[in-house]
Amino acid sequence: MQERLMTLQGEAVEKIEKAGSLKELQDIRVEYLGKKGPITEVLKGMGKLPAEERPKMGQLANDVRDAITQKVETKQEKLEREALDAKLSSETIDVTLPGRPVRKGNAHPLTAVVEEIEDLFIGMGFSVAEGPEVETDYYNFEALNLPKNHPARDMQDSFFITEDILLRTQTSPVQARTMEKHEGRGPVKIISPGKVYRRDTDDATHSHQFMQIEGLYVDKNVRMSDLKGTLTLFAQKLFGAEREIRLRPSFFPFTEPSVEVDVSCFKCNGKGCSICKRTGWIEILGAGMVHPNVLEMAGFDSKEYTGFAFGMGPERIAMLKYGIDDIRHFYANDVRFLEQFKRA
Ligand code: DAH
Repeated sequence: MQERLMTLQGEAVEKIEKAGSLKELQDIRVEYLGKKGPITEVLKGMGKLPAEERPKMGQLANDVRDAITQKVETKQEKLEREALDAKLSSETIDVTLPGRPVRKGNAHPLTAVVEEIEDLFIGMGFSVAEGPEVETDYYNFEALNLPKNHPARDMQDSFFITEDILLRTQTSPVQARTMEKHEGRGPVKIISPGKVYRRDTDDATHSHQFMQIEGLYVDKNVRMSDLKGTLTLFAQKLFGAEREIRLRPSFFPFTEPSVEVDVSCFKCNGKGCSICKRTGWIEILGAGMVHPNVLEMAGFDSKEYTGFAFGMGPERIAMLKYGIDDIRHFYANDVRFLEQFKRA
């Protein structure tokens, strides 16, 4: 029996040493130490031994089992360490590899121009106001002195949703909305950039959706000269310190008097070139003194308060500033176009 135990131990140790994987090792453990293994088998046969030999054999069997267990555990640790080392070395990161550059985007040219214009007016004490793009007929037209059936409504072909709701055709409704909130008390000094919609066929100079920036200043004693001073400063900051502006009589239902505002050509300095169509002047916006009806409808006393208003198209300003010849470029989202307007 003693011999049998020693042979088993020898066999097991040899196999354990040869084991190349944790799975193999596990199988050996079960084979020798399991309930159906040979050592258990030997222990079962102990009953047949004479009584005085039993403790000695029992001791020996236990020693053999402990020796095999010990061997398995040592080997298991070794295999586990090797597996970990292999994993670590296969997963090392080469920190000297060059990185992949992250492509940086840039603001859309219209966003850039709108933000530049906002900053100019904020510097002159205006704040930025916004209004809804889905607007009521009242704010888009009536509150701006354009009653139903007024012929000037034809100037702005509209997308109506219901009889009373439409996509705003201009940012001017924000004037009426903001004045109402002030409940008859000035000053009101805002600019309002945003999208507007018109039933136009898209071409190089028309887009069914485009942007406007509205301006409004209502207070006691606001005069036409304030309008001219404000817009002169604006034109000079945007197009160069030598610029002048010129006001030409015009018509808008919500202003009286109304004007078109031209800036002296920044390309030829007023001498005449293709950009200013040989006139020396470029039209940049519409403006005027807020019509008394508009003030009254929004709750302002037109004997006490006066104001000026203006409206401009950032697309047109951006096209002039950057020499862009087709408004559709702004909305085609071609990166080759957009990438040219990276800000420093
Ligand atoms: N809303 C006008 C348009 O779409 C632009 C405009 C002109 C706005 C004169 C004004 C203004 O506030 O005073 O044509």
